[in-house]
Amino acid sequence: RRLLGTAGAVGAAGLVMGGGAGAFAADAVRDEPAALSGVGETERMFHGKHQAGIADPAQACGHLLAFDLAPGADRKAAAALLRRWSATAAELMAGEVPRGDDTGIALDAGPSALTVTFGFGRTFFDRTGLAARRPVALQPLPAFTGDALDAKRSDGDLWVQIGADDPLVAFHAVRLLRKQAGDAVRPRWQMTGFNRTPGATARPRTGRNLMGQIDGTNNPKPSDPDFAARVFVPDDSGDWMAGGSYAVVRRIRMLLDSWDHLSLERQEKVIGRRKSDGAPLSGGTETTPVDLDKIREDGSLAIAGDAHIRVAAPESNRGAAMLRRAFSYQDGVLDDGAPDAGLLFVAWQADPRKGFVPVQRKLDRGDGLSRFLRHESSGLFAVPGGCAPGEYVGQRLLE
Ligand code: HEM
Repeated sequence: RRLLGTAGAVGAAGLVMGGGAGAFAADAVRDEPAALSGVGETERMFHGKHQAGIADPAQACGHLLAFDLAPGADRKAAAALLRRWSATAAELMAGEVPRGDDTGIALDAGPSALTVTFGFGRTFFDRTGLAARRPVALQPLPAFTGDALDAKRSDGDLWVQIGADDPLVAFHAVRLLRKQAGDAVRPRWQMTGFNRTPGATARPRTGRNLMGQIDGTNNPKPSDPDFAARVFVPDDSGDWMAGGSYAVVRRIRMLLDSWDHLSLERQEKVIGRRKSDGAPLSGGTETTPVDLDKIREDGSLAIAGDAHIRVAAPESNRGAAMLRRAFSYQDGVLDDGAPDAGLLFVAWQADPRKGFVPVQRKLDRGDGLSRFLRHESSGLFAVPGGCAPGEYVGQRLLE
């Protein structure tokens, strides 16, 4: 069943590339698969303590999908759906051809770092009679003055995040999960995004966003001692969300035409970092700790008072932190000719009331970057911990 090339096939691929038509024919006779490059080979684990698609690097392609339960679909129907979806996600992430009615879209591809992550929105708990088990952390996000939210593209009973380093592999997962949903759910919204392709740059480092900035530098890192405490619900919480996380999803359009009019110096001041290499304006390289107190010779702050990294930093928000794992998006042009482009911002945290909410409150009040952004849709989802083989995601809530 497995489609992946094996180590032995690497030699075969060498022949194909170096040996011309004869080698190709020989290869075809043997009917061996060509070797996958690193991109196709990479496999993320579906089973485990946490769901995949959180602490692993964001892939080149991303799809965010929200669904509402169909009228009449109850807790049992939701449990059956999560069971089906989990089994398929496990197969696809392992690079296997799913049982049953496959579409063939990804037939010759490897797992390509595919991840499928499932979450529950606030309304899920009312529709399934589980309101008493809805986590308090899932209370609605407050309204922010800069919001221009489209309700139809916000929220949802169920949320699925799909990421892969190959667009066909990602679409294949979208298509199959949609088909398997059957009558249990109705699509609510779907968004598609992207990041830099692995291997596309000779200087791999933190990726760039559509404003051109290196984005993600000061994210919590899995090697940080407090990473788990910031990102995941503690094991000893004793509830069904143990090992889970909360995803805040915001579609943030960038006002790129206005942004591009700013001089490089102004752009760097707005963020507080150099555009070329992401180094903080207080000095050093990308990874040098930011010195928010540094004063320049002319007496001004090196990192301006309204610089994004000052206003968003844990130091300015009583330690509030989150893991940002975003995808850029580009959906054509708006009626006024402006690009419909920006960031599918996904922030992960153990509790949004101690992560996204206080930080966004502060950004909303006085962040130099906010003038160039529009928050157009919003969602908050409870993403349960991972599951063991034979189990499904959300089982502790739904069984
Ligand atoms: C840092 C861009 C929205 C929270 C940064 C950095 C950039 C950036 C370039 C510096 C590099 C880094 O450390 O990652 C953007 C863009 C946004 C956006 C383009 C919207 C399109 C947000 C939102 C939040 C946020 C909505 C949270 C509510 C943070 C945090 C940091 C950061 C916590 C790290 C600050 C530090 O500790 O140094 N962002 N950001 N950002 N951003 Fe944003």
